[in-house]
Amino acid sequence: MNQPQLTINNSNENLCKIIHQSISESPKKRITFAEYMDLVLYHPQYGYYASYPVNIGKQGDFLTSSHWSADFGELLAEQFVQMWDIFQRPHNFTLVEMGAGKGILAEQILGYLKQNYLDFFQTIEYLIIEKSEVLKEEQKQRLHSYKVRWCDWDEISHSSITGCLFSNELVDAFPVHKIIIENQELLEVYVSSDSDGKFIEISGETSTPRIAEYFNLVGIDLLAFPDVEGYQTEVNLQALDWINTVASKLQNGYLLTIDYGYQAPRYYNPTRRQGTLQCYYQHHRNNDLYWNIGRQDITAHVDFTALEKQGILSGLENLGFTQQALFLMALGLGDRLNELSNNQGFSIQEVLRRREVLHSLIDPMGLGNFGVLVQSKGLSEEEKKQVLKGLSMPPMV
Ligand SMILES: C[S@@+](CC[C@H](N)C(=O)[O-])C[C@H]1O[C@@H](n2cnc3c(N)ncnc32)[C@H](O)[C@@H]1O
Repeated sequence: MNQPQLTINNSNENLCKIIHQSISESPKKRITFAEYMDLVLYHPQYGYYASYPVNIGKQGDFLTSSHWSADFGELLAEQFVQMWDIFQRPHNFTLVEMGAGKGILAEQILGYLKQNYLDFFQTIEYLIIEKSEVLKEEQKQRLHSYKVRWCDWDEISHSSITGCLFSNELVDAFPVHKIIIENQELLEVYVSSDSDGKFIEISGETSTPRIAEYFNLVGIDLLAFPDVEGYQTEVNLQALDWINTVASKLQNGYLLTIDYGYQAPRYYNPTRRQGTLQCYYQHHRNNDLYWNIGRQDITAHVDFTALEKQGILSGLENLGFTQQALFLMALGLGDRLNELSNNQGFSIQEVLRRREVLHSLIDPMGLGNFGVLVQSKGLSEEEKKQVLKGLSMPPMV
């Protein structure tokens, strides 16, 4: 991927002032990287996800699977239908989409269900939990013809949901703590300001014992790595809090998480010395976390082991972890490719375009390599025996 011209820095000055102020008001004149990332992405007025328009899409900074093609939402919808069947088609089945972006995935799912599974469509309650007010407004406009309810976690009662909570590229957008190993010590990277008013990184003791607990949870001892001096990585504590919240709301059903990331041994590989933090601006990836502040997206890969282990602690069971390519193939993407070859009704241009789109969803170098984790709660032994279609192909090792 080409690098953007990093020299043209268009940081949001108001946001930079707020971050500097937050640093100068803190007792040690520093904030954690997680606090910095939270301000950069979610400051209610100037954060990346608060500024209109949020640049997801072809004209924007990055594309998610649903922006590639409606097939993504339609195949997910097939999975939800099977979940409903497993539960013997109850009348109180809820789909909760967390972090719904521009509402495109919801539109694909609801549109497909309405056309193909009217009984399910008429039964489900569709909830969206969305942090960004700007995106919430966009979702409301896009989905105005559907029965969708937007809510916050505190509006959902404890143990009240039968159904499926799901997200695509939500967890990678959570603010993360940045970690560095120096002099055989696990330290945290903080953001501070220098005398020229530039943001600088400084290291210090970890801000919370939860960071050490995190590594115990995922079974990784960074200090045992060979040649570990200077090794940098991230810890997503918000992901653990999120799992706890989701688990507490679920009575009966599934949690489906799609995101880019790995299991802990791969995530915290000794050779991945600079961690996984990345920035996206106009479809270019860069590593400068202090460039174009508030105007570019920042993400970190997801440690799926952490979600699995925390899930167990909060009462979830792990049903399976696979790659997006296998998940979508098992749900019918392969059939869609075959139909394309056999269908004489398409022009050659249409066939080529659709084939490219379908392949991009399963590209092993891209979206196809995303992780798909399914966890469950409250399933009977009979329900557990029914393998989810999306998990029916063995994962690649
Ligand atoms: C990278 S975008 C992905 C959007 C969409 N799922 C898609 O696939 O196009 C991340 C989304 O998560 C939302 N988000 C981030 N943190 C959130 C949180 N704690 N609760 C709810 N939504 C959140 C963002 O506002 C945005 O809508």
